[in-house]
Amino acid sequence: MRDHDLVRRIVYEMGRPLTRIPVTVKCRIGVDGDDDYDRLCNFVTSVKSAGANHVIVHARTCMLNGLNPSQNRNIPPLQPHIVHQLVRDFPDMTFCLNGGITSFDQADTHMVNPYPYTPPSGALFDLPPVPSVMLGRLAWHDPLAFHSVDTRYFHAKSPNLTRRQIIDGYLDYAAQFDVYQPGQAEGPDVVPMYMLIRPLHYLFAGCKGAKQFRIECCRLYEAKGKGGGVCLADLVAEAVETGVDAALLDEAITRD
Ligand SMILES: Cc1cc2nc3c(=O)[nH]c(=O)nc-3n(C[C@H](O)[C@H](O)[C@H](O)COP(=O)(O)O)c2cc1C
Repeated sequence: MRDHDLVRRIVYEMGRPLTRIPVTVKCRIGVDGDDDYDRLCNFVTSVKSAGANHVIVHARTCMLNGLNPSQNRNIPPLQPHIVHQLVRDFPDMTFCLNGGITSFDQADTHMVNPYPYTPPSGALFDLPPVPSVMLGRLAWHDPLAFHSVDTRYFHAKSPNLTRRQIIDGYLDYAAQFDVYQPGQAEGPDVVPMYMLIRPLHYLFAGCKGAKQFRIECCRLYEAKGKGGGVCLADLVAEAVETGVDAALLDEAITRD
């Protein structure tokens, strides 16, 4: 974001008529604490001139010197109103708001109605809603929050899955990969066991025993999975047995 022209040239080259790849851009509202709105608008104008009409904006500045990636996802303050301002000021582009959204109700406060904003010196006014949001850590910390997302937004039939069905589906998916064994050559289909287990860590978020299940997943991975000599299904079954009430596996998932 420091070098607008470099980004413009990259976007242009990626989206050249020869490749016909639709290019989108993801950015912050600024770099190293500089959240100057005109500068952000110049950046957006620049990528637009190169053919990118959709910009995903993580509504924080990033600190390239001094904060690590994890701190950069938490410490610089969120300023979602800036993304709403972009929606107002670039009506022929689309924007996606990213950063710090932890529920779908919260997402709706940005997407459904005008967004009320009071500047530090001035009176409250309304900004237009954003057309979309991108959620990152919610998928990680509470994957089942997404259980009825298609019902909520696309009027799809509720999937009505149980955790057992989700685990079975996930194990089928994971079966396409070879679990990495020490000394084995790496390749696109060779995946370390910890990467296959991690998406299940928060499967019981919000339930009694959720933390214990997570601890068991890690413990069993350390004890048995590291060497690659255990199958994922067995490891998950053991973590369930030790960590949570097995009845939860077949209970209906009741989430918004
Ligand atoms: C599990 C997970 C998956 C993500 N996937 C993507 C992705 O596919 N594309 C992307 O641009 N950012 C992705 N991100 C980054 C987030 O969109 C995001 O920029 C950052 O985590 C801040 O948003 P959050 O507060 O909703 O987590 C992902 C983050 C997480 C934790």
